[in-house]
Amino acid sequence: MNVRITGTGSALPGKILTNAELEQLIDTSDDWITTRTGIKERRIAADGEYTSTFAAAAGRKALAMAEVKPEEIDMILLGTVTPDFPFPSTACIVQDLLGATNATAFDLSAACSGFIFGLSIAEKYIRSGSARRILVIGAEILSRIVDWTDRNTCILFGDGAGAAVVEATCDSDGLLSTHIFSNGNCWNLLFQPGSGSRNPATAQRTIDERLLYIRMEGNEVFKHAVRAMEEAAIAALDSNSMKASDVSLFIPHQANRRIIDAIAKRLCLPAEKVFVNLHNYGNTSSASIPIALDEANRSGQIAKGNIVLLDSFGGGFTYGSALLRW
Ligand code: ACO
Repeated sequence: MNVRITGTGSALPGKILTNAELEQLIDTSDDWITTRTGIKERRIAADGEYTSTFAAAAGRKALAMAEVKPEEIDMILLGTVTPDFPFPSTACIVQDLLGATNATAFDLSAACSGFIFGLSIAEKYIRSGSARRILVIGAEILSRIVDWTDRNTCILFGDGAGAAVVEATCDSDGLLSTHIFSNGNCWNLLFQPGSGSRNPATAQRTIDERLLYIRMEGNEVFKHAVRAMEEAAIAALDSNSMKASDVSLFIPHQANRRIIDAIAKRLCLPAEKVFVNLHNYGNTSSASIPIALDEANRSGQIAKGNIVLLDSFGGGFTYGSALLRW
């Protein structure tokens, strides 16, 4: 059985936080942020909006495009590092919000690679005949685990969600391959120290020592991201006997413009084949690729038969790729 994405959707908070507004909060400048990252603004969730709110909204749009009813979904896979609660799974809350009564639902923790990891699991379940329709979502509210006093990190991240309906198909087109990788050696270069079993919450640890918030060795992450995303992209191309020149659209994880440019250069991909929207949203972790895929899809930047390469990198480290013939 082959596997195909039949619908995409995305949902973003209405509130925009610009670089100019960040200049009022911390010692930074629009020029520094733009030059070093490419980010101009990001979306920030309002009170009363949760990861599940955006995940369900993105999921609804993907289901509508695929013309699939919620009760026809066999599984909901939600990649997130900012779940509504440590448990239960935010995917179960999304199941409830959507009325996807026949789905098995669970979260997966692969940081910014959450959507690609979800896509890979969905592919295996469908190819094996164990499921026919799976809703894969990446959703985050990173603004709630960002240290707004740390200029090294708070400028980078944003909130939002993206989703895809993945279905069994007899077509030869569709998902050609997924590759997922981990490098646990580097887990401590990008992580959230507090709120888990290693540093259980206390006022001192969680708040005063700021363990609730994202910690990142930006320079190290940068170097690993470029190498790993190149490796994942080449794995996708090699396993399908393709070259980078066969790719119609490259959709990389949207973390930093310089990371994207470096990978595109290594793969010899011209700028017009590289999808970039991080100037609008910053790094939305697991949501970045499905939001970008949905924007590219709805704006007509992907046509039937196009070869689309998705490429991710995130905390863990985790990284991976998916190659599709649309
Ligand atoms: N405004 C102004 N100056 C700043 C800011 C800021 N927001 N942040 C840092 N600086 C300063 C630093 O303090 C430093 O000053 P110093 O030389 O006086 O010490 C100087 O700028 C240079 O800092 P670097 O950290 O060396 O800057 P760099 O060019 O490496 O850019 C950045 C930092 C943007 C974080 C970069 O390393 C990066 O993008 N790394 C990858 C991060 C990333 O993409 N993470 C997510 C990927 S995985 C995932 O998505 C979960």
